[in-house]
Amino acid sequence: MTKKFVLTLSLALGMAASATLAGGHIEGAIKARQGQMQLYQHYLGILGGMARGNVDYDATAAQAAADSLLAVASINASTLWPAGSDMDSVEGTRAKAAIWENFPDVGTKSMAMTSGAAAMAAAAGTDLDALKAAMGGVGGACSACHKAYRGR
Ligand code: HEC
Repeated sequence: MTKKFVLTLSLALGMAASATLAGGHIEGAIKARQGQMQLYQHYLGILGGMARGNVDYDATAAQAAADSLLAVASINASTLWPAGSDMDSVEGTRAKAAIWENFPDVGTKSMAMTSGAAAMAAAAGTDLDALKAAMGGVGGACSACHKAYRGR
């Protein structure tokens, strides 16, 4: 094997590896953000079940769900939304390209989510009325963002 060939081969391998990495990076980020959303749905579902009276109110369970919702809302999600991971560019996502064109507004909607979750965490363990009163803030934050930035 000549030196030149070894160099060319390792360059080619390197490029293939970084192409795979780039693809895997986008796919992984999409899975991770959808996982964050699934966790939102899970914890909000527990709280919503109590708010609607489908499940008996339990202060400890409500507090645990609300604390978890806030924790999930508090992760640094910046790496979950890489450029090129919108629904026009790749399969397997419903994230509208508009997200990447409206960062200040997406940030505002994310902040609304975090403050709604914080209000819920402050209320959920108090009593059922307090939990119910905090539902709108969280639910409203989910739907405002979905309306603007989630497709189909
Ligand atoms: C700042 C914007 C934003 C907020 C706030 C938000 N979502 Fe989402 N949500 C999205 C986007 C964008 C998608 C599409 C993600 C994708 O497919 O890559 C999504 C997708 C989802 C999905 C589908 C996940 C999957 O597996 O495909 C669920 C469930 C969901 N959101 C629930 C929630 C709930 C519940 C809340 C509130 C507690 C919430 N979301 C708050 C933007 C948001």
